[in-house]
Amino acid sequence: MNAPQIAKRRNVTLHVVSSLDGFIAKKDNSVSWLESPGNAYETGASISDEEIAAFVKAIDCYVLGSRTYEHALELGWPYGDTPVVVVTNRKLPSATKSVEFYSGDLKALVEEKLAPRYRNIWLVGGAMLCQRFLELGLVDEIKLTIAPVLLGEGLRLFDGPVTEQRWNLTNVVAYKNGFVELSYTSAMA
Ligand SMILES: NC(=O)c1ccc[n+]([C@@H]2O[C@H](COP(=O)([O-])OP(=O)(O)OC[C@H]3O[C@@H](n4cnc5c(N)ncnc54)[C@H](OP(=O)(O)O)[C@@H]3O)[C@@H](O)[C@H]2O)c1
Repeated sequence: MNAPQIAKRRNVTLHVVSSLDGFIAKKDNSVSWLESPGNAYETGASISDEEIAAFVKAIDCYVLGSRTYEHALELGWPYGDTPVVVVTNRKLPSATKSVEFYSGDLKALVEEKLAPRYRNIWLVGGAMLCQRFLELGLVDEIKLTIAPVLLGEGLRLFDGPVTEQRWNLTNVVAYKNGFVELSYTSAMA
């Protein structure tokens, strides 16, 4: 007889890009700082379009705060048909059929609404929603990409009342374009 299958636990990954000085958005919301400066670090890794496509395909669901959603609508929808949950207390227009809106308890969102349906859940941001998820212990993994630029001012990722938490470094990838991706898992997991 086959051993019973153990259901895989959901995995919430907080993924953001930060400037060297810790900002994830400029005051005017412009995004040119996120563009690659070219091949700045010759010995760094590069990633092909096929690898990016395979990586994106493995994401089951994105979770966005309403301001990040509104910004994504302005910039052009980047999430294709992958399910997207937007957290908001307002009535907002739906970008596509794959968008759902949620208001209420964030633990219930993850454990009751998302976990039964999705395994690989990506928390896109912004800062406000990421801080709430971190405070509530709802993040399993952090992927923080550092862009090679100082912004001087803007929206800070870690500016909220997060209490001290230990995270284990699991991977570091330095890319040819000078961006560095740091991966961590929660030491509490
Ligand atoms: N660099 C990066 O990787 C990155 C990633 C993501 C976003 N960003 C940038 O970050 C900026 C947006 O970040 P932000 O911190 O201002 O806003 P945000 O986190 O995207 O959205 C905040 C909104 O989410 C809703 N929300 C949060 N917690 C909630 C809860 N518990 N229940 C119900 N609704 C809740 C509220 O919406 P309502 O007010 O509608 O009720 C709140 O105003 C944008 O400029 C975006 O481009 C950067």
